[in-house]
Amino acid sequence: MSLLVTDIGELVTNDPALGDGPLGLRRDAAVVVDGGRVAWVGDARSAPAADAVLDAAGRAALPGFVDSHAHLVFAGDRAAEFGARMAGEPYTGGGIRTTVAATRAATDDELRANVARLRGEALRQGTTTIEIKSGYGLSVADEARSLRIAREFSDETTFLGAHVVPPEYADRPDDYVGMVCGSMLAAASPHARWIDVFCERGAFDVDHARAILACGQAVGLGVRVHANQLGPGPGVQLGVELGAASVDHCTHLSGADVDALASTRFDCMCPDGGHTTTVATLLPGAEFSTRSPYPDARRLLDAGVTVALATDCNPGSSYTSSMPFCIALAVREMRMTPAEAVSAATAGGARALRRDDVGVLTVGARADLLLLDAPSYLHLAYRPGVPLVSTVLLNGESQ
Ligand code: NIG
Ligand code: FE
Repeated sequence: MSLLVTDIGELVTNDPALGDGPLGLRRDAAVVVDGGRVAWVGDARSAPAADAVLDAAGRAALPGFVDSHAHLVFAGDRAAEFGARMAGEPYTGGGIRTTVAATRAATDDELRANVARLRGEALRQGTTTIEIKSGYGLSVADEARSLRIAREFSDETTFLGAHVVPPEYADRPDDYVGMVCGSMLAAASPHARWIDVFCERGAFDVDHARAILACGQAVGLGVRVHANQLGPGPGVQLGVELGAASVDHCTHLSGADVDALASTRFDCMCPDGGHTTTVATLLPGAEFSTRSPYPDARRLLDAGVTVALATDCNPGSSYTSSMPFCIALAVREMRMTPAEAVSAATAGGARALRRDDVGVLTVGARADLLLLDAPSYLHLAYRPGVPLVSTVLLNGESQ
């Protein structure tokens, strides 16, 4: 069944060849979807016929959001920890172990229900592609089952066995790293596309992080890194060294870190000029929920670094599943323009996952399309906290 979405007042295609500016904006547009793919994009008045019609009635349309960083497999919450932070306690990442204990104690069905709940929340807010990490199991069996459950909801699954050293290995971190690279990776990798490490003081140092990421690469996993979140450190440059698809957080960057990220753009040999780039994924929900200074998005953008925005949805540092909320924060608090923020939340997330079939509305792309209850994408930042996503097509199917 083909579907014509017509009378789109403002269409974000993310293809400059299809419209104005980097967002490839078109007015009075239409899109035809067929077989789960975009089959035609153009002026509403010259649109071909289709089996069914969806009248956008002048509303704005854009590609579904690509949330390239989320930790959805966990049990329990840490509302009390959040309350204490808002009363002045710092965020250290120490609460991760609280969630590990709750996650280990949960049944498969409890974990599955939590992922389903959060995936549903995200979808209603326009997220059509979501990456899901493990990292609250931290034993061979619990990491493997976290990823098995994550795979039921997304192909973009990430093995984060190196989130923190679990309590039973507290005085022998080398042994833990050995297990992550050995039996844990073997059990996890069949269910994962990516490997990630929390490279930070109090989590994994650069030597351990390099060893773990290299083991993952050796079995075919792509690299992502939690880097430079709580303080300056070597994580970003390690990510660049290993050709990571993305380094995430990037809250505390040196000039050399920014230069290293910018240089990855020019190393790219691929025809579309972009896929080997290491993306800087910014997670403003984490700075909001830990009451921390925001990353300097302007410095990265002005240096030519590819930027993505993602939620970091997790029960500790950022318990939001809302990409529109992250867009609003990025615009208001990180001085991104609304166009830069929408691009980072769609095309940027796709680049961070090395995908070219999502984050754009071009012929052949996956038919993941949002209609806003608003005439322009600008309203995503202009009307913060308002549920503007009124229609979600995922693979061409209305949700
Ligand atoms: O991305 N930084 C490491 N991991 C998560 C936080 C996890 C937690 O606090 O439970 C993050 O912020
Ligand atoms: Fe994270």
